[in-house]
Amino acid sequence: MTRIDEIVGGIYRISTMPKDSPISFNQFLIADEHPALIHTGMAAMYEDVCRAIRLVLDPARLAYIILLHFEGDECGGMERFMAQARDARIVGCELSAALNLNSFDFACQNRVIGKRDGEVIDLGRHALRFLETPHVHHWDSMMIWDESTRSLFPADLFIQPGDQPPVIRENLGSAMCELYRHAGIFAHEEPVRRVVDRVERMRPEWVHAMHGGTLTGQVFASFTDALREQPFAFNGELRGRVLAGQQVVA
Ligand SMILES: [Fe+2]
Ligand SMILES: [Fe+2]
Repeated sequence: MTRIDEIVGGIYRISTMPKDSPISFNQFLIADEHPALIHTGMAAMYEDVCRAIRLVLDPARLAYIILLHFEGDECGGMERFMAQARDARIVGCELSAALNLNSFDFACQNRVIGKRDGEVIDLGRHALRFLETPHVHHWDSMMIWDESTRSLFPADLFIQPGDQPPVIRENLGSAMCELYRHAGIFAHEEPVRRVVDRVERMRPEWVHAMHGGTLTGQVFASFTDALREQPFAFNGELRGRVLAGQQVVA
């Protein structure tokens, strides 16, 4: 099932909860003079995400399709969205562009923008500033900051399990760390904690998690505390499967 809700100032959360999935998958539409879609969802979600966007604006009007790292749920639908929105550009960090978007045979070649830390895309009322956050999950991981709503788009950081409401006010920090330990998506705590320090100093009022609900500024502190106090890095488990000879004994 896919639903769409406006969270704040023209930022819409499009959330899909696949049957039997432990996590939901959220895409974010920013309705502005130059509309943007932040992550696309997997290819199989394209029709549902498109239908949700159509309730707000014509998907052919999308100016930017933005991926925050190169993985199926972040960009699986990009070629179909790019085919529909003929003037759209695909935006990733410079590494995503160099490693994947420009070098593989994707249909979106020649329409790629690679961004570095601090660079901005102006949508009209919103200006999106890019933060390079390498090894917060992937080599090419990136986040986005929107000053006008004090919104952070952190991709897979601040995940919560299950089908959460559009905005959460509950402390799910321990559940987040437990999910990370079982999934094994972070190689090490250190690069993640450095980014946690950085984004905390930005004092976000909204943190639009890709999996789970959007965090308010108030509940955000309980998630950053959990990331500082609890282990969450890879310890031999990949999506709940223990790998032989990989478990690190403390
Ligand atoms: Fe991811
Ligand atoms: Fe994700």
